[in-house]
Amino acid sequence: MTLRITESRIMNANGLALTGSALLCLLISGAGEEGLRAFVRLTAWQATLIFSAVLAGKPLETLIPNGWTRSLHARGRVLLKALAFSMITHLMALCLLALVFPEPFWSTLSSLSLAAGALAYILLGVVTFIPERFAVRELGPRSWRRLRGAALGFLWIVFAQTYLSQVPEEPSAFAFFSLLCLVALLLGVARFRSRPQEIVQ
Ligand code: HEM
Repeated sequence: MTLRITESRIMNANGLALTGSALLCLLISGAGEEGLRAFVRLTAWQATLIFSAVLAGKPLETLIPNGWTRSLHARGRVLLKALAFSMITHLMALCLLALVFPEPFWSTLSSLSLAAGALAYILLGVVTFIPERFAVRELGPRSWRRLRGAALGFLWIVFAQTYLSQVPEEPSAFAFFSLLCLVALLLGVARFRSRPQEIVQ
């Protein structure tokens, strides 16, 4: 299957999943604040799964090289676009929440969370929508790799911190936090395994 066909399949499946989530929230929790908040959370959950797939591609290919892991790694860029799409939906749902149900939205939102969230969006936009060839030409491959790593690392922190703060009340938050830790562990192990071995004389 060509890369372009799977690209459109991934984007379509993501769009369908977001539409399905919206309908589910509407049916189960209604069109009020509860339904909207449920949708905000579902978009974040979906984004977490895609984000984990983006991060896991390279280490999985290093540790278990086969057709499937190679294909997951090769689709990192389109998965990043799908992640951005889910996060834009998260933001649109939040804007709606802030407009239609301003309280307790604004009173529970700290300036630090707002700043961290805004920075996360800017970084996600930079690594997703700036064409890789252009970035490599302007910055050089090393700086671009570093910027991409820093952006994904910052996103990891925002996801992990959000779930960690919910762990006492929400069992689902513990599951997603564990998934993020597992992916970080995979990255660490793969980096350790692929580092150049010292030659012992
Ligand atoms: C300024 C931008 C952002 C604002 C104002 C914001 C606000 C919110 C709010 C109010 C909720 C909770 C909805 C509810 O349960 O009632 C939520 C959920 C969530 N947000 Fe955001 N968010 C922002 C950006 C982000 C970013 C950039 C990420 C990740 C990189 C993120 C990750 C999450 C996660 C993981 C949840 C679900 C938490 C859970 O299931 O317990 N958010 N967000």
